[in-house]
Amino acid sequence: MNNFEKKKKNQPKRMAIFASGSGSNAENIARYFKERSSAIISLILTNKSDAFVIQRANSLKIPVIIFNRDDFYNTSKVLHILIENKIDFIVLAGFLWLIPGNITRTFNNKIVNIHPALLPEFGGKGMFGDHVHKKVIEAGKTESGITIHYVNEKYDEGNIIFQAKCEVTKSDTPESLANKVHQLEYENYPKIIETLL
Ligand code: GRF
Repeated sequence: MNNFEKKKKNQPKRMAIFASGSGSNAENIARYFKERSSAIISLILTNKSDAFVIQRANSLKIPVIIFNRDDFYNTSKVLHILIENKIDFIVLAGFLWLIPGNITRTFNNKIVNIHPALLPEFGGKGMFGDHVHKKVIEAGKTESGITIHYVNEKYDEGNIIFQAKCEVTKSDTPESLANKVHQLEYENYPKIIETLL
């Protein structure tokens, strides 16, 4: 390894987080890395101009990029923003759109997602938020959990990196199950990301 490579290796990784909703995971990840030198959250990107994640990003003083469907699927704008900001690693945290091929190819094995159930079950298009928890309860499952996986051009089909489980009891509602799953997410997502950087 030459001096330039050594220097780059020791610098914090530059991370971008994509989120479409509340952004509690995005905030949790940002707070985790604020106290560490392994990575910095350089950007938060969203497709929803009224998403609560924007307010969280503002409080955390993280720049936000808002883009629309045309920018994302018919231009290279978002890819160029990632490249200009020297992004090394991409985290999806409640981001609901498929990542287009120009980004998955450029960031091969450098994009991860978290899914609020034990894939390969309860995944795919339309399976997000409380829809997932409702289906898990309707199916009479006694366990659910989280899946952290690499991202490719299909919903929830990239290689699985990590899973953690929680119990589903007879009295669980989609809301109570969502709470249990969120706890698993907060506890594990930042740590797993750190091992992948
Ligand atoms: C999380 O449950 C995550 O698993 C899923 O979307 C939800 C996002 O929640 N992909 P939040 O916006 O981080 O609060």
